[in-house]
Amino acid sequence: MESVIVAIDGPSGTGKSSTSKAVAAKLGLSYLDTGAQYRAITWWMISNGVDVSDAGAIAAVAAKPVIVSGTDPSRPTITVDGVDASGPIRTEEVTSRVSAVSAVPEVRALITELQRTIARGAEHGIVVEGRDIGTTVLPDADLKIFLTASPEARAARRSGELKGADVRATQEALVKRDAADSSRKTSPLAKADDAVEVDTTDLTLDQVIECVVTLVDERRSRD
Ligand code: DC
Repeated sequence: MESVIVAIDGPSGTGKSSTSKAVAAKLGLSYLDTGAQYRAITWWMISNGVDVSDAGAIAAVAAKPVIVSGTDPSRPTITVDGVDASGPIRTEEVTSRVSAVSAVPEVRALITELQRTIARGAEHGIVVEGRDIGTTVLPDADLKIFLTASPEARAARRSGELKGADVRATQEALVKRDAADSSRKTSPLAKADDAVEVDTTDLTLDQVIECVVTLVDERRSRD
């Protein structure tokens, strides 16, 4: 198989981003962080004074921002209307609003189309990470992985990333965001029937990367 499309889904704190970037770099593939795109549109809404509790208001302007994702796994980038958004999209304000914005069907339709265009254009293949990649965005992906981990492990990892944030508060916020992402009507966070589930609770990052690289190699050798 020349070019391979790998979908990596799962809730926050399961190691999706670190794993996806490392696997893409090792295998010479492009990389797309779809959560960053939903964060970017959320940041644009907040910056432009859109009421993010009003789905109609969000839908009315959803097509306005121009979101561009750079897909080099060693240097992923994201811009909104030409402005680097990589810092602002990680703020607490964006994190607490992104589930509401990403639940709006008009937002999902636009971002899904953007994701499909990027995946189709990746010459050597791509690793795409998110929540609905295997189920909705790329249902024909060559390999689908669904990463899981206990809520405790996910919160511990996230609070480490946030440099010492309170683990309990982080866990509560994660559980709340996952519940919102899993229960929304349009393409919720879900494991595709044909996805391989990998529980990362007791694995190191290197072990998860090795596991996914092996799965990609096995998939490629089948063709
Ligand atoms: O992966 P992340 O935490 O940066 O994602 C931020 C939010 O974006 C997440 O809470 C739900 C949403 N998201 C989504 O709805 N669909 C995706 N494919 C990726 C992310």
